[in-house]
Amino acid sequence: MTRREGDASVICGLGSSLPTRVVTNEDLTAAGLDTTDEWITRRTGISERRWAEEAVSTGDLATAAGRSALESADSPDADLVLVATSTPDRPLPATAPDVAHRLGLNHCPAFDMAAVCTGFLYALVAADALVQAGRYSRILVIGAETYSRIIDPRDRDTAAIFGDGAGAVLLRPGNADEPGAIGAAVLASDGARSDLIKVTAGGARLPHGDTIRPREERFFQMQGKPVFQNAVARMTEASRAVLESRRWPADSVEVFIGHQANQRILTAVASRLGIPETARYGNIRDVGNTAAASIPLAMAHAVRHQPPRRGARTVLTAFGGGLTWGAVTLTWPAVRTVDRPPEHRPDTKESTG
Ligand code: UT7
Repeated sequence: MTRREGDASVICGLGSSLPTRVVTNEDLTAAGLDTTDEWITRRTGISERRWAEEAVSTGDLATAAGRSALESADSPDADLVLVATSTPDRPLPATAPDVAHRLGLNHCPAFDMAAVCTGFLYALVAADALVQAGRYSRILVIGAETYSRIIDPRDRDTAAIFGDGAGAVLLRPGNADEPGAIGAAVLASDGARSDLIKVTAGGARLPHGDTIRPREERFFQMQGKPVFQNAVARMTEASRAVLESRRWPADSVEVFIGHQANQRILTAVASRLGIPETARYGNIRDVGNTAAASIPLAMAHAVRHQPPRRGARTVLTAFGGGLTWGAVTLTWPAVRTVDRPPEHRPDTKESTG
């Protein structure tokens, strides 16, 4: 599909940030989690993940990833900041305005996007539309999470999987035939299955109030098996839809990055679609499932370790709580990137622990 000149948004910056604290599978078993390195590796593909140090928050990771994306861009400025997260620094205000301020983007509009593990794709598609509508010309889209703060350290279904981190891209107006141009997109949700992935307490339906709620209400909960099945079906369906809309045969895809939920899910989706093995990129082994941060983190990892060809046909797909899911096509951007350490907020008095 060829589009008119100037009718696309283009990724012109890419950034990432990971906490320095590495937690290996052995560290989890040593801490008393009822699992083994062998089980986690075989059933999820994860060897280690990063968990933020006590003083590091989602906003600290988001600021560092955002700065890294701005530094990697042709022009380090933004006129809108979106932070996709389900682990914001506080219930309110949103994390994005603080991140924008810390990046020196004062008075720039900024808001959070809550679509759990699909959050980055939801924010990317919204940003693409806003750039194409001519509303904003430099949108910083950040996915940032600290799941280590909401998982139950005794729950092996979640504690073995989730990790912390942030990734970001900068979008500018451009042409559909430039490397980095966003193409087709599909987003969807199914609220009838909202119970499959949830944190029960702490919202309007079950506020914390003065009561200390039971563990299962305070911590993140996931029904692994149905989530697994839905993740495979929905990411396959969404990816197929965007491939059809671009008329891209699956074997012409050079870069396929799925939400890093579980290596078995990623392999099942890519195999069902017929994506060549050489096109399957990811970093789940090193960082686990970082929810909304996972796709930009995997993109940054690819650029640093096995840079795809500029302009290569690329498919991104994600699935998460809500339920939410989606897929996007683009061509691989002409960007370099450097991972930055989390940025501490010098004036923070609140404990994040
Ligand atoms: O990011 C958003 C979306 N999230 C996802 O997409 C995650 C989707 N789900 C999953 O990745 C997987 O379902 C899990 C990794 C959570 C669980 O893996 P599974 O292969 O689906 O395991 P299972 O729940 O079918 O359990 C198989 C066995 C059970 O033992 P029995 O009943 O066969 O004796 C579990 O008790 O494995 C056991 N098990 C574990 N054993 C050691 C479950 N978790 C663990 C563990 N360590 N961490």
